[in-house]
Amino acid sequence: MKPKLLDLFCGAGGAAMGYHRAGFEVVGVDINPQPHYPFEFHQADALTFPLDGYDAYHASPPCQAYSRAFSPLVGYRKEHPDLVAPTRDYLKATGKPFVLENVPGAPMLNYIKLNGTMFGLKTKKERWFELHGFEIWLMPAPLNTRGMIKSGKLVGIVGHSNYANEIIANKENLAAAYSIDWKMNRHELRQAIPPAYTEYIGKYLMDVVKC
Ligand SMILES: C[S@@+](CC[C@H](N)C(=O)[O-])C[C@H]1O[C@@H](n2cnc3c(N)ncnc32)[C@H](O)[C@@H]1O
Repeated sequence: MKPKLLDLFCGAGGAAMGYHRAGFEVVGVDINPQPHYPFEFHQADALTFPLDGYDAYHASPPCQAYSRAFSPLVGYRKEHPDLVAPTRDYLKATGKPFVLENVPGAPMLNYIKLNGTMFGLKTKKERWFELHGFEIWLMPAPLNTRGMIKSGKLVGIVGHSNYANEIIANKENLAAAYSIDWKMNRHELRQAIPPAYTEYIGKYLMDVVKC
């Protein structure tokens, strides 16, 4: 039987697919309907969803409170609740290994940084990951993103091309850059983690849940 991972704030399943590829049975929870989520799904508030019966957890609380894509001038940050600390506390109480993911600038502790160039993807999309109950010591090397943009090999971040040669972040280009081969709309793609990140983390997580 495969170890079971609960995927909180699951969106359309970018993170989920990586854990699936690493060998987990994945169950997702999101407060909004997620018709494109490719595994068992429950519509619920992540911070009250029962946590019993899982071997490991992943959580991607909404990032609008910290995301650099939202300018402080727009006044967006203050309107969004900070769910990182409450989610960490909720998952810590399980005593099981878990991963907490967020954008650069989020109030994360002892995190590792991953970006797409470490996995041969045509995207930078840096994300930070707190690992609880296991560690990763050996990281793939990131490529020089400036060089990748110059040579026309990187997809833009915020929906348009910021630099000459950068690939425009339309739906097709984002899906290809993230290696997402199931149905997602553009909003879901922009929120999704490329599965390669959690497939990489999931292999280390698998080692501790099998013990
Ligand atoms: C950054 S997205 C997750 C992206 C996902 N990890 C992926 O890789 O595709 C955050 C998600 O949290 C959901 N969300 C926001 N507040 C929530 C809550 N209280 N409980 C559950 N889900 C929530 C949003 O609907 C959104 O889908």
